[in-house]
Amino acid sequence: MIHQTIAEVIDNTRLTDSIYLVTFRSKELTQEAKPGQFVNIRISEGCYPYLRRPFSYCDVVGDEFKVLFSIYGIGTKVISQSSIGAKFDIIGPLGNGFNIDSEFNTAILVAGGLGVAPFAFLKRALPKNVKVVSYIGARTKELIATYGLDNVVIATDDGSLGEKGTVIDLLKEDLMNGKFEGKFKIFGCGPTPMLKALKVLCEEFNLNCEVSTESAMACGFGICQGCPIELADSSGYRLICKDGPVFNIEEIKL
Ligand SMILES: Cc1cc2nc3c(=O)[nH]c(=O)nc-3n(C[C@H](O)[C@H](O)[C@H](O)COP(=O)(O)OP(=O)(O)OC[C@H]3O[C@@H](n4cnc5c(N)ncnc54)[C@H](O)[C@@H]3O)c2cc1C
Ligand code: FES
Repeated sequence: MIHQTIAEVIDNTRLTDSIYLVTFRSKELTQEAKPGQFVNIRISEGCYPYLRRPFSYCDVVGDEFKVLFSIYGIGTKVISQSSIGAKFDIIGPLGNGFNIDSEFNTAILVAGGLGVAPFAFLKRALPKNVKVVSYIGARTKELIATYGLDNVVIATDDGSLGEKGTVIDLLKEDLMNGKFEGKFKIFGCGPTPMLKALKVLCEEFNLNCEVSTESAMACGFGICQGCPIELADSSGYRLICKDGPVFNIEEIKL
């Protein structure tokens, strides 16, 4: 069930120069939340900015949830400056979330930059017998966050942390070297060029993969029709906020 409620900020931590992790408390927004779902946060009590801003559940523990973000504009700036006790009008949980019911013994999490946001919660929700390996890439080390993850392979475009190159190159190398045994599933989240490269890789190796997608959003729950994504077979569109944001990578055009 979707709730609109007031949630209180109970922690605000700056993880790096540009990355923030803000913790909210709300029973309504946490009790049915699933990894891959998101919240839509109202930024101001006035008319500006008019639209709410969507953020993945980064992690959920009890009645607390976290969002992980960098500052892009007014919305992320306001949330980054919030003090303990600040209250926000938030709608959630929204969207479908990752499917973790299917059988696999290794989960490969592939993130570009802040695409890492939903993965701490995903890792927490996976069955304990599932091995988790994370590939996290960004332009430079200041944009790398590994919150909640271990067993992490890092790539940066400028080589300032981990391997120089992209996470897709690293993953391809590991696939070619037979690193993963048994059944595995890939979970991806990040900028469109990274997801496109991941789609090519999945086609090449015939991989089982779900990705979390993004678009600008207004309502966040399927009313305004403002967040379409085209189906891979050109047969129509799906709404990222309601039918997604998580899709099987085969299903969509990127
Ligand atoms: C389902 C969903 C989940 C999301 N989860 C997260 C999350 O967990 N963490 C997170 O940091 N972001 C997440 N985003 C993106 C986030 O909603 C935007 O970063 C946010 O709305 C920016 O608001 P703003 O007011 O700060 O910037 P705006 O004023 O809206 O934008 C300022 C400028 O920055 C650009 N911009 C805005 N967002 C991004 C972006 N993400 N990447 C590159 N350029 C951008 C805009 O095009 C514009 O030019 C998610 C988006 C969706 C749809
Ligand atoms: S944001 Fe309104 S339909 Fe998706």
